[in-house]
Amino acid sequence: MVYKPAEDTYFLLDAVKDIEDNVLELGCGSCFVLSNIKAGFKVGCDLVKPYEIKNGIEFVLADCKNAPFRVNSFSYIIFNPPYLPSENIIDIAVDGGKGGIEVPLNFLKTSLSLIKKNGKIYFIVSSLSDYKTVELFLENMNLGYVKKEKKLFYEILYLYIVNFV
Ligand SMILES: C[S@@+](CC[C@H](N)C(=O)[O-])C[C@H]1O[C@@H](n2cnc3c(N)ncnc32)[C@H](O)[C@@H]1O
Repeated sequence: MVYKPAEDTYFLLDAVKDIEDNVLELGCGSCFVLSNIKAGFKVGCDLVKPYEIKNGIEFVLADCKNAPFRVNSFSYIIFNPPYLPSENIIDIAVDGGKGGIEVPLNFLKTSLSLIKKNGKIYFIVSSLSDYKTVELFLENMNLGYVKKEKKLFYEILYLYIVNFV
């Protein structure tokens, strides 16, 4: 089922809406975020086909890990991955695997191979996920980041903006 835009979708969109350079969204769901950003060249990738693919978006139906993109080819990569802790991946829209970070870390590793030098990666995880391990991963890779947060009733959403130098 296609993920319906929610608080996490709007939080990501708010951070990326003014991007004008080429952008790739991993796990683009309904393509709501891509549809609402300025960029001229917009690519979305998901395991589920959106109901509607608006003009200006190239959609690739694939597991983002194996998607046919060229390495170091995007200036911006964005994702709002499934990040809820789960024993197994049953619902691909929300189940993030162990600690809720198995899938987000896979998305992040994929992004690091596809992002251009001096590009930026924007992504979301939650206070319900083991976000400290994600931060440790970034620190071990010597990647600087800015972290923003949005408090919801039952969790805090964290948005990371990673500079790839
Ligand atoms: C939380 S939803 C976010 C959807 C959309 N980006 C948004 O913000 O509304 C996560 C999305 O990741 C997709 N997804 C999960 N695993 C994936 C994978 N391995 N490759 C590509 N997409 C995947 C799901 O199908 C789902 O659309």
